[in-house]
Amino acid sequence: MTVAQSLLDRLDDPTLLCTNAFIGGEHVSKGADGAHFAVHNPANGEVLAELPDLGAEAVNTAVDSAYEAQRAWAATTGTHKSDTLKVWHRLWVENADDLATIMTAEQGKPLAEAKGEVLYGASFLEWYSEEAKRIYGDTIPGHREDTRILVLKEPVGVVGAITPWNFPNAMIARKVAPALATGCAMVAKPAAETPLSTLALAVLAERAGLPMELFSVVTASRGAPIGDAMTSNPRVAKITFTGSTEVGRQLMRQGADQIKKLGLELGGNAPFIVFEDADIDAAVQGALQSKYRNAGQTCVCTNRIYVQSGIVKEFTKALATAVAEMQVGDGFGENVDIGPLINEASVQKVSEHIEDAVVRGGTVETGGETHSAGPLFFKPTVISGATDDMLIAHEETFGPVAPIFTFDNEAEVIERANDSEFGLAGYFFSRDVARVFRVAEGLKTGMIGVNTGLISTAVAPFGGVKQSGIGREGSRYGAEDYLNIKYVCLGGIT
Ligand code: SIN
Repeated sequence: MTVAQSLLDRLDDPTLLCTNAFIGGEHVSKGADGAHFAVHNPANGEVLAELPDLGAEAVNTAVDSAYEAQRAWAATTGTHKSDTLKVWHRLWVENADDLATIMTAEQGKPLAEAKGEVLYGASFLEWYSEEAKRIYGDTIPGHREDTRILVLKEPVGVVGAITPWNFPNAMIARKVAPALATGCAMVAKPAAETPLSTLALAVLAERAGLPMELFSVVTASRGAPIGDAMTSNPRVAKITFTGSTEVGRQLMRQGADQIKKLGLELGGNAPFIVFEDADIDAAVQGALQSKYRNAGQTCVCTNRIYVQSGIVKEFTKALATAVAEMQVGDGFGENVDIGPLINEASVQKVSEHIEDAVVRGGTVETGGETHSAGPLFFKPTVISGATDDMLIAHEETFGPVAPIFTFDNEAEVIERANDSEFGLAGYFFSRDVARVFRVAEGLKTGMIGVNTGLISTAVAPFGGVKQSGIGREGSRYGAEDYLNIKYVCLGGIT
């Protein structure tokens, strides 16, 4: 299989660039009839590697192995699970530079940002390696004198994971870490655009001594056949998916026949509200972090910025000035802030949202067009005069465009912010304590950043309400999603 020498040359350990899938403890180098697919660098179109294009058969083989291995894994002590995850975590951190390099090559994000994501991913391993020893049950006073009641927490079993291209390291991390810590096994299907990061993690997992029947990585160019195989296999107890609401809906429909457990992290349309009592400089920094992280390709990215009328001019000028200074370029370049978008469809969507906004009266303050670095590069953009009838007010742009809406009062902005079928993240800036509580309670989202644009961490529950998803990832709540509750009633105790 092809592997780009240019990428191998950048790695301290070239064996991390793996072109085999991991199926039920075996390395698989070929799909049926030799089918394979190519992974490209979005910055320049170079083919980085060719991988086996696998299908339902590989999923079923992986699930069968996982099914057997999971029972033995569940029976091990919390300390054993913890120790194994700790070794994986150590190798993850030790190889962070190479993992970041692989990520930048296949995903495009700037190298420093990729390294940040690798360490963010590793933090889930660390956190759940500690939590593996604390999967506590409960006791409840009996309802009769001769009874005692126990509540046991048991791993759900084999979990099918489908992960996205925008965070190729952290999204698998926050699924596999709680799954293994609670005694589950996982069959993962990384996005076709960015499978190399997950494969590199699998190489490290194997080195860490994890029985690899517990963690298969199915490489495939298309998600639908893999989703079908996972949802129709009765040995898969749960599906965890991060990606679009449309695909989440599809998996939910498919999982209905077998009442699959589901964890869904879906789309967002995050409002970012700046009140007149806010620290405007801090709000501008928060908007930069929340909007332009990963070139705006983040589910929790700000999609709509609402600024109170008295400060809208000042805020717009400050944001546009800062955005105009951002450097666009190849993620391996020096001081680059914004890498390429993932594909042509993303560029088209961003362009469409900007055109629509301009037709409806918006003004491009900075950016607004593709960048000379290449066809997938887009200039970070600020649009003033945004209105609620624009596409950008209702659809997730998933690109580096910040539309600025104006509002007059608190009740009005809460209503407009909540006018969305999505409810993942929301942000606001205010120094009024009473307002902080009112607005945090009023916004219908699963996560809220107050006076900060960065909310993602392994120690807190990440997840949405409404059509943004089901379940939580990270923190002890993230572990609960991989556990069944079993109640045992002990009678005859006299
Ligand atoms: C996402 O885009 O779904 C995840 C981003 C994050 O963890 O911050």
